[in-house]
Formats: sequence, C-alpha cells, structure tokens
Amino acid sequence: MSGMLTGRVAIVTGASAGLGRRFAVTLAAAGAAVVLVARREDELVALAAEIETAGGRALACPIDLTDASAVEPLFDAAERWAGTVDILVNNAAIADADYATRLSLETIDRVIALDFRAPFLLGVEAARRLIAAGAPGRIVNLSSVGAFHYAPTSAAALYCAVKAGILRMTETLAIEWARYGINVNAIAPGMFMSEMTAGFIDRVGDKVRERFPRGRFGQPADLDSTLLYLVDPRSHFVTGTCITVDDAQTSR
Ligand SMILES: NC(=O)c1ccc[n+]([C@@H]2O[C@H](COP(=O)([O-])OP(=O)(O)OC[C@H]3O[C@@H](n4cnc5c(N)ncnc54)[C@H](OP(=O)(O)O)[C@@H]3O)[C@@H](O)[C@H]2O)c1
Repeated sequence: MSGMLTGRVAIVTGASAGLGRRFAVTLAAAGAAVVLVARREDELVALAAEIETAGGRALACPIDLTDASAVEPLFDAAERWAGTVDILVNNAAIADADYATRLSLETIDRVIALDFRAPFLLGVEAARRLIAAGAPGRIVNLSSVGAFHYAPTSAAALYCAVKAGILRMTETLAIEWARYGINVNAIAPGMFMSEMTAGFIDRVGDKVRERFPRGRFGQPADLDSTLLYLVDPRSHFVTGTCITVDDAQTSR
C-alpha cells in the first residue's frame, strides 16, 4: 500500500485520539502528507513525531473546531506546508451521552457545532480550494450506525440525529461536487474502542459486548482498508455512499 497516496495532502480531524489517530497514521503510511487537527497539542506533536520517525510527513495543527473562524487559517497553513488539501477526513466528534430532556443548551450547541457544522465548513473550504485549483479530491465523513439504529436506552438522540444528517450531507455534497471530481463518502462504524466508547463502557459495563454476534468491539485498525478504499484513485466512481463497518453488531 505504501506510496499509493504519495503527493496527496490530507487533513484528519480528531487526530489526537481514537479512530482519527489511526486514520492519520494509515494515510501517512500510504504516502500522504497529513495535517493533524484536534485541541490537544501535546498529542498531535507526539503523533507527528511518530509519523516522521516512520518516514512519513505530518503537521500538528491544534484547533478547536467549534470555532468557525479557525477553518480558513487551517487550510492556509496546510497549503503553505504541503500544497492543496485533496483528502479531508471529517472525524472529530463528541457524543451527547445523555437523554434529550437532560441536555443543556450549551451541550446541544457544542454537539451541533463540532459534529455537523464543522464537517460542513471544512468540506466547503476544501471544495472551494480544489475547484479553484482544478484538482480532484476525496472527502470521507464519519457517520455512525446510530444514524440507522436507536434503542430506548441509547441516550444519544441528538448525536444520532446529527450522524444521520452527516449521511445526507455526504449524499448532497457528492452530487453537487461530482462535476469537479470531488468524491464525498461516509463510513458508519459500529462500536470501536476509543476514548468516546471508553466512557460508555465505563457507564454500562463490558457486558454490551455479549449482545454482539461475534462478541467483540472494533479496533481502530479495522477501518484501515475502508478508508484506503475510499481515497484510492481507483475508487473514482464511488461517491455519495456510506459503508457500514460494524461486524454485524447492529440489526438490519
Ligand atoms: N468509536 C466508536 O465506536 C464510533 C462509532 C460510530 C461512530 N464513531 C465516529 O467516529 C469518529 C471518531 O470517534 P472516536 O470514537 O475515535 O472519538 P474519540 O476517541 O472521542 O476522539 C474524538 C476526537 O475528536 C477531537 N475533538 C473533540 N472535540 C474537539 C474540538 N472541539 N475541536 C477539535 N477536535 C475535537 C478529540 O481531540 P481533542 O480532545 O484533543 O480535541 C479526539 O481527537 C467520530 O465522528 C464518531 O462519532 C465512532
């Protein structure tokens, strides 16, 4: 796989932890120069060093993505560093982690700002610059199986609604930007081990695993092949779709 993405420039949001950290390592290993975005600067700097030690290229960009004014300067910095961004992985998100009636207005606004507005703004900024440069690009949005499935005890109504919105955003932007060679796709993971799910497992206990037919959570590396498929130049006909990767954890 090494070299498949040589010359490509990627932004990965939420690269300080969980799935995003792994996405950044995977893209860098395939040859992309990777811009690492999240709030925790120490984690990003450590990851950039790890990627560079392994022979890759990475730039740490500590940013709070609920701040819309951070988006343009992020793309400016990425462009100065490595050129036009042609891969965007919209991965950063937070869960509401409570029943809808208990959510504060502040939590509601924060979930929408990070999980929906930020991916939209980042996608639009990426597309504007790709269109101006006459270059093709790939956008991969992280949705969730929660976009399709909801249980009485899920306690994530807003998060799941927003993740369903991410799916529709993926479809509409794919149609709008197809003529420019910009492909927009989504991944809907089942339950994977990460900081986000560690909190959930602490609350409900590890027994949630027993509900799954294979009795296991995903590991971030289990998404490597899906991400690489979606950014592979040979997947140029694949756009506006969502790949569920959940080990059959959820019903159909
Ligand atoms: N893990 C799963 O089972 C699962 C299942 C379905 C969907 N997903 C989706 O997969 C994606 C990754 O989830 P994950 O489980 O890896 O989450 P995670 O471990 O909680 O990591 C979230 C990432 O987002 C960053 N982040 C949080 N707030 C931010 C902000 N205001 N500005 C910038 N970055 C921010 C965090 O870094 P900082 O704290 O350093 O900012 C961290 O790097 C999310 O879109 C999630 O909805 C995950």
